[in-house]
Amino acid sequence: MNKFVSALCALGLGAVLVASVQAATNNEKIIERIKPAGSVCMVGDDSCGGAAAASAGSGGRSGEDVYNTKCSACHGTGVLDAPKFGTSDWADRGAKGMETLLANAINGINAMPPRGTCADCSDDEIEGAIQHMLDSAK
Ligand code: HEC
Repeated sequence: MNKFVSALCALGLGAVLVASVQAATNNEKIIERIKPAGSVCMVGDDSCGGAAAASAGSGGRSGEDVYNTKCSACHGTGVLDAPKFGTSDWADRGAKGMETLLANAINGINAMPPRGTCADCSDDEIEGAIQHMLDSAK
């Protein structure tokens, strides 16, 4: 009889434990579900995929992304005589070779500001953006 009771107790305790563990996981699911949509994730915050997004591809933003967000303001239209995207301007510049173009883009040259104002661009990202513009040459 005693054995039976303690077996029942163990069963009961087990059931309570299982129930509370389930409650805990349900709470987590609920919290997950009621999180605000589109929570902000800052670049460089790798706790929320920010770094993953920022370092998509080979360790950086794509050349196209960098160009679109940082360089197109001048190079899209040819402001201040910037070599214009999609024109022979870039074929001419390409003759200088990537090493020179990259160094000039990083340090700035005439009206071209250092890093094209992209202070947080890595050298690789700058090079990608230059390549994207070189590829556009007609
Ligand atoms: C404020 C306008 C401006 C922005 C923004 C800008 N550029 Fe330029 N860029 C220029 C101008 C003007 C020149 C032409 C400079 C010259 O040769 O006199 C130039 C020239 C260049 C050249 C040619 C350098 C050479 O040696 O001939 C490269 C490469 C270049 N830019 C890359 C970039 C990249 C990459 C970005 C974005 C990360 C960028 N630029 C953003 C204005 C800009």
